[in-house]
Amino acid sequence: MLKISNLFANIGDVKILNGVDLEIGKGELHAVMGPNGSGKSTLCHVLMGNPDFEADGEVTLNESEILGKPQFERAEDGIFQSYQYPVGLPGVSLMEFVMASTEGLNEDEIISVAKKFNVEEFLDREVNVDLSGGEKKRSELFQLALKKPKLALLDEIDSGLDIDAIKTVANLINENRDDETSYLLVTHYSRILRYLDVDRVHIVVKGNVVKSGSKELIEEVDSGGYTQYQEQ
Ligand SMILES: Nc1ncnc2c1ncn2[C@@H]1O[C@H](COP(=O)(O)OP(=O)(O)OP(=O)(O)O)[C@@H](O)[C@H]1O
Ligand SMILES: [Mg+2]
Repeated sequence: MLKISNLFANIGDVKILNGVDLEIGKGELHAVMGPNGSGKSTLCHVLMGNPDFEADGEVTLNESEILGKPQFERAEDGIFQSYQYPVGLPGVSLMEFVMASTEGLNEDEIISVAKKFNVEEFLDREVNVDLSGGEKKRSELFQLALKKPKLALLDEIDSGLDIDAIKTVANLINENRDDETSYLLVTHYSRILRYLDVDRVHIVVKGNVVKSGSKELIEEVDSGGYTQYQEQ
């Protein structure tokens, strides 16, 4: 479904990704872990097509090359990004935003999905303005459920959440999983991964995937931290 080969990325003179290889199959959920500043968010930005980054290499979504495409085309192709730090959109209500970004859904349908995600009271408020950290993450997952993307990039969807909220967020992801959506989920912590059915784990260090493996890697990270990979 997604195939990343030899992906490099930089901002000006700052090299951030140094030859990333990663493949995600249809409907799979892959966890990406790694120390601060290793390039995890950059990987998400580059896949979504953030123009701040210069990218080089090959990235195909269902065998069609996406690297040259602008962000909106990638969104149309079915890529969805949930940001580590969701940006507020003053002056735009969440309802207006999702009506504009989803096709063929009426207000009643949107409200019924909003109830499921417990974000109904945010629909009339500005997108991500004055929401708590956990509320923003719920709002992102609500948008993901409406969009039904082919590839969901979830960047630290568990950051800043209390223990119960992590479980809630994991359950919301689980309820929405099907064969049509693949997930690249960036996280620092094994807690959320315990509640999810993880197909593969990738460790990113200094802009490269230094190790990939099955769920067992999560335990390895938990017990040994990231320094064991940095020394390699
Ligand atoms: N706009 C930018 N200008 C200069 N350097 C940048 C820019 N954006 C990111 N970087 C640098 O790229 C590196 C990777 O950043 P990135 O945000 O991808 O890391 P990360 O793995 O997501 O870290 P964290 O776990 O802390 O979220 C960092 O050293 C960061 O300072
Ligand atoms: Mg990050």
